[in-house]
Amino acid sequence: MAFPATRLRRLRRTSALRGLVRETELAPSQLVLPLFVQLGTEERTPIDAMPGVARHSIALAVEEARTAYAAGVPAVLLFGVPADKDGQASGAHDVEGVVQLATRAIKEAVPELVVITDVCLCGYTSHGHCGVMSPDGEVDNDVTLELLARTAISHAEAGADAVAPSDMMDGRVAALRSQLDAEGHPSTPIVSYAAKFASAFYGPFREAAGSAPAFGDRRSYQMDPANADEAVREALLDVDEGADIVMVKPALPYLDVIRRVKEATRVPVAAYNVSGEYAMVKAAAAAGLLDERAAVLEALTGIRRAGADVVVTYHAREVAEWLN
Ligand code: PBG
Repeated sequence: MAFPATRLRRLRRTSALRGLVRETELAPSQLVLPLFVQLGTEERTPIDAMPGVARHSIALAVEEARTAYAAGVPAVLLFGVPADKDGQASGAHDVEGVVQLATRAIKEAVPELVVITDVCLCGYTSHGHCGVMSPDGEVDNDVTLELLARTAISHAEAGADAVAPSDMMDGRVAALRSQLDAEGHPSTPIVSYAAKFASAFYGPFREAAGSAPAFGDRRSYQMDPANADEAVREALLDVDEGADIVMVKPALPYLDVIRRVKEATRVPVAAYNVSGEYAMVKAAAAAGLLDERAAVLEALTGIRRAGADVVVTYHAREVAEWLN
């Protein structure tokens, strides 16, 4: 039946009618707020490109976590900024390291809040790459796996509810799973950054985390933005290795990848609305070019519609406030 028998505008006439037939719901229960925690200062260091986002001392991070939880955000994703870095990323698996201390402090203050920890070496290596370097100047995959597993164990021991490897080494999910199981953490889920692209949209994050590579780029381990079949392979491999949730990152330029990964894996899929995506909206809103609230809700609804079950976003607290 075509027009005039069919008129799609009939169900758009009132807000209540539109609500009845809405296909995608965006709810605070789906949101994860990234938090940057730094050692060696008691202050809050704002990130220029990301208004509203800062690096926090542990005490201030606990307050941020508490406020987010009170607003309805169920989970945070912790990134650490250590006081010192070295070639072996020893700060990453230090039991008194920044993420380990912050995890303990947040779990003690807000036990119901889900604490997910980012597992990567880039914030802890002096050169800023996501793994250790081999003598021939490449990121050494297999040596890095051991350090990542140690890091994940130290996070689980500090009380992390889930660990999220973001390094893109081959075999890291299996390495983390077997070590976590061997060391008494069989119930700690792995949120794998399965399809993480070598993206220009991470720029502001690298300022926030102080993790820009000192030389070269990340294209020998992060994915080529042009590839979607490969993203599906990455996700399927991670599921095989034991990933509980697979993530696609960034989100908005990769909505097709989110959809394909969801259809191929049928496991919970997370999408990371990254720093550059956040910075763009903030800058445009500050310049009076768009309505921030409407733009953010539309973008996050689009990420959900593409197939994401979980959305990691710096907008999480504000969105939870708007939705509640
Ligand atoms: C670290 C990591 C990055 C992000 C999350 N974990 C940056 C990178 O790979 O350079 C980016 C997050 C964002 O841009 O918001 N491996």
